[in-house]
Amino acid sequence: MPEPRIALVTGAAGGIGAACAQALAEAGWNLALADARESFGVAAAARAQGRRALPLALDVTSKASVEAMVAATLAEYGRVDALVNVAGVVGFGSAAEMPEAEWDRVIAINLKGSFLCCQAVIAPMRAQGGGRIVNIGSIIGKNGGNARPWIDRGEQQRSSSIAYGVSKAGVHAMTSFLAKELAADNIAVNAVAPGPIASAMTTAFPEALRALIPAGRMGRAAEVARVVAFLASPETSFVTGEIIDVNGGMWMD
Ligand SMILES: NC(=O)c1ccc[n+]([C@@H]2O[C@H](COP(=O)([O-])OP(=O)(O)OC[C@H]3O[C@@H](n4cnc5c(N)ncnc54)[C@H](O)[C@@H]3O)[C@@H](O)[C@H]2O)c1
Repeated sequence: MPEPRIALVTGAAGGIGAACAQALAEAGWNLALADARESFGVAAAARAQGRRALPLALDVTSKASVEAMVAATLAEYGRVDALVNVAGVVGFGSAAEMPEAEWDRVIAINLKGSFLCCQAVIAPMRAQGGGRIVNIGSIIGKNGGNARPWIDRGEQQRSSSIAYGVSKAGVHAMTSFLAKELAADNIAVNAVAPGPIASAMTTAFPEALRALIPAGRMGRAAEVARVVAFLASPETSFVTGEIIDVNGGMWMD
């Protein structure tokens, strides 16, 4: 990868996305910062670190919006060395009571949205001779969700839903499929699977579940971002199809 490297971060206005932008800026990357919300503040912070930063409007559920995001990144920088797929939403409640529209919303943003972003960078990464894709999965895509839904239905209402878990399990499977398909193109595709991270997404996280984290606390967005920055870096040239847990020991596989 020629210097300075270019990273495209989705969900850049959120807790983990902004932390990824900061970690990549610290590592010397120039940035395209895409989100459904405005990410001017995150861009200003990266510029204050001496980097270039391009804020972009994005709806990951729209193929046209995703393609416009990639086109704008290429127009600005001429290449995209890493895609960091952070945009996502959480969903709550029991499987028994989940409205169909809620299932569709969560799957559309977290799973289809992540796929559309991955798909849109394949051609430019192939053309430039390689790249990195880092997806954000979740412990909830591995562990069956809430540890004890049969004990406390109120707790269940404040824990991630089956739609969320299935969307993130899909992100994990997508990561391995893309890793295999793109390995010979020098495009590494990996994921980070965070446990509970303090952010806007987890303000209602139940105390009873927090107590189950072996590290004794929720994670910090910066702790996810450091692993993302590592997976985006050229040092990981022979690491692909990996899903790295960042969860304080809450789930091990
Ligand atoms: N916080 C946690 O505990 C945790 C744990 C595991 C995984 N994750 C995952 O990490 C990612 C970031 O989560 P976060 O905690 O920073 O949450 P967050 O809500 O702070 O950030 C999510 C961002 O995604 C953006 N977004 C939502 N829908 C979008 C769309 N249709 N198009 C474009 N952008 C959209 C939001 O505007 C927001 O800025 C998500 O994929 C989430 O599922 C979070």
